[in-house]
Amino acid sequence: MGKALNVEEGGATEFATPSKIAENIQKGAASAAPFYLPVGSEVEVFQAAFARRLPILLKGPTGCGKTRFVSHMAATLNLPLHTVSCHDDLTGSDLVGRYLIKGSETVWTDGPLTRAVRDGGICYLDEVVEARKDTTVVLHPLADDRRILTIEKTGEEIVAHKDFLLVVSYNPGYQHVLKDLKTSTRQRFISLEFDYPEAKTEIEVVIKESGIDKATAERLVALGQKMRETTEATLETPPGTRLLVHAGMLIKDGLSPALAIETAIISTLTDDQEVKEALMDMVAAYF
Ligand SMILES: Nc1ncnc2c1ncn2[C@@H]1O[C@H](COP(=O)(O)OP(=O)(O)OP(=O)(O)O)[C@@H](O)[C@H]1O
Ligand SMILES: [Mg+2]
Repeated sequence: MGKALNVEEGGATEFATPSKIAENIQKGAASAAPFYLPVGSEVEVFQAAFARRLPILLKGPTGCGKTRFVSHMAATLNLPLHTVSCHDDLTGSDLVGRYLIKGSETVWTDGPLTRAVRDGGICYLDEVVEARKDTTVVLHPLADDRRILTIEKTGEEIVAHKDFLLVVSYNPGYQHVLKDLKTSTRQRFISLEFDYPEAKTEIEVVIKESGIDKATAERLVALGQKMRETTEATLETPPGTRLLVHAGMLIKDGLSPALAIETAIISTLTDDQEVKEALMDMVAAYF
């Protein structure tokens, strides 16, 4: 792991400015980063938020590029990425760490959040609203200007490394209404909204990710957008870009478009036979 790109050696300011970060990105790290095609100002906002170490909340439907965006930004900023997929059994200890028995000893072992806080890097809490409430208690002093992590079990109080950045994501609408972030938590974050990209962008993503030709990508994206428009009432979640990419991959590898779309998109989205048939009819209009 190289040195974080934003660090200015011996500089007067502790944090690099957004323009400095952008300049460093231009210098090269970007070429090795996972492919991410910006859909709006998210790269710019992320850089500016990182320059001020403001925590970031990403929200948007499934398969629209949130995780890819974080991997891309971590790589371009040359920051280690510690990802935690949150679920309803996830506790503060899963994030912070716990005592483990090793041989005849009990040894403290840092969790992913603590590792990022100590060593710097992005701690990305995916689907953060799924985590149990006690986890947000840990996040509060870390997500405001104190930037402190308190480990109750050891009595340790760690001031976050200067390259530590907290990023969380969630999928509004998908979770139960009760599972929302508390306002006091939310108001600590810069919020970036993700959505299905415009056709032009989505076509480019599908071509790049699946390797199919432009004409097929255009048809797939048009179909995907049509499904999003028309299935609001019948489908719980419309198809994200991920599903279009999967269908593209199968077509690229020789499956017929109808079979590729049926297996990658339609059967994935619904168990209802009638809905499935209606969607297959829609496919026939495009392929
Ligand atoms: N803007 C984009 N640039 C590049 N790839 C993209 C973009 N948007 C979507 N993708 C593609 O879609 C796939 C799914 O994106 P990703 O895993 O980031 O979704 P997500 O928003 O994190 O979804 P979830 O909420 O289910 O975790 C990626 O693997 C990538 O192929
Ligand atoms: Mg994700």
